[in-house]
Parts: sequence; C-alpha cells; structure tokens
Amino acid sequence: MKTLIACYSYSGNTLTVAQKLQELINADLTRIEPEKDRWYVIKAIHAYLEKKWSIKPCITDISGYDCLIVCSPVWAGRATPGVNQYLEELENVSGKKCAALVTMGGDGSQVATIKIREALEEQGMDFMGKLVIGGKGQKSGEWEGKTQEFAQYFRE
Ligand SMILES: Cc1cc2nc3c(=O)[nH]c(=O)nc-3n(C[C@H](O)[C@H](O)[C@H](O)COP(=O)(O)O)c2cc1C
Repeated sequence: MKTLIACYSYSGNTLTVAQKLQELINADLTRIEPEKDRWYVIKAIHAYLEKKWSIKPCITDISGYDCLIVCSPVWAGRATPGVNQYLEELENVSGKKCAALVTMGGDGSQVATIKIREALEEQGMDFMGKLVIGGKGQKSGEWEGKTQEFAQYFRE
C-alpha cells in the first residue's frame, strides 16, 4: 500500500515516531510546518478552539497514494492548528485509506484522534486506526513495539 505520512512536530517526539513508522512501511513523509510560531499559551488556546494556522507548502494532493497517516502532537487535548489547516487543504482523498498518530506528554484522554478521524471521514476517507503514544510509552521505549504493531496495518 503506497502510504504518505504527514507529520507536524514541534519538539521532535511525534517526528521520531513518524520516522520509525516511515522506515517500517517504506512510506513517504511530508512535514506540516506552520508559517510562524506562537507562544505556548496561544498554542494551547488555539488548539483548544480548533483554529487553523497557515502552513508552508507540503504534499496535500493524495492522488498518488493509497493511504494517508496524519501525525500530530496533542495540544490541549486536541490536534494542532497546523494539522487542522492541513486537513482542510487535502485534495483527491475520497475512497483512500487513512489513520491518525499522536503523541502526548500525559497518559490521559485526548480528542485529537477523534477530530482527525472526523475531518478525514468527512472527506470520504476510510479510517483504519490510530496510534496514541503517551508520556510513559515515550520514556519507557514501549512506543517502538506499539509502532511496529501499528505498522502491520499498512504493509499489504
Ligand atoms: C501547547 C502545548 C499543549 C500541550 N497539551 C497537552 C495536553 O493537553 N495533553 C498532553 O498529554 N500533553 C500535552 N502537551 C505535550 C505534548 O503533547 C507532548 O510533549 C508531545 O509528545 C509533543 O510532541 P512533539 O515533540 O512532536 O511536538 C502539550 C504541549 C504543548 C507545547
């Protein structure tokens, strides 16, 4: 399955997991990068309010792929504003498979994966699953095993 991994990462944690997945499934990776950075509190408020920040050009046309995996850190329980914008800019996604990958500092609940799933399904995509890596899993190294398990969905 030809897969595109679209990843936003502010401090590198999500990118580490996304790159491991990329290596395991031999996918392409495109970086979602907001045009400008904001203060911590603004980041959290804008994420909570589900705002969109303009992003630098990256791969948004999925016509050459069978599957898209959208990766984001969890901010204020939600997806990040750059990822929200990316979801809006997607083209030629209908009928394709998709999944979500998020990392977070805590191990509590989050709605980021639900929001990403909703945005992708609204555009006619078929959601395959999610990978959530919390703070404990990042520190213990458990994330690697979880990523290997997740990778199996995208191998055929
Ligand atoms: C603005 C902001 C808000 C955050 N909100 C949450 C949160 O609600 N829950 C949580 O578990 N972690 C939260 N975190 C921690 C990040 O989700 C976590 O460190 C993540 O792995 C960072 O990924 P990155 O290194 O790819 O940017 C927040 C971090 C930032 C910068």
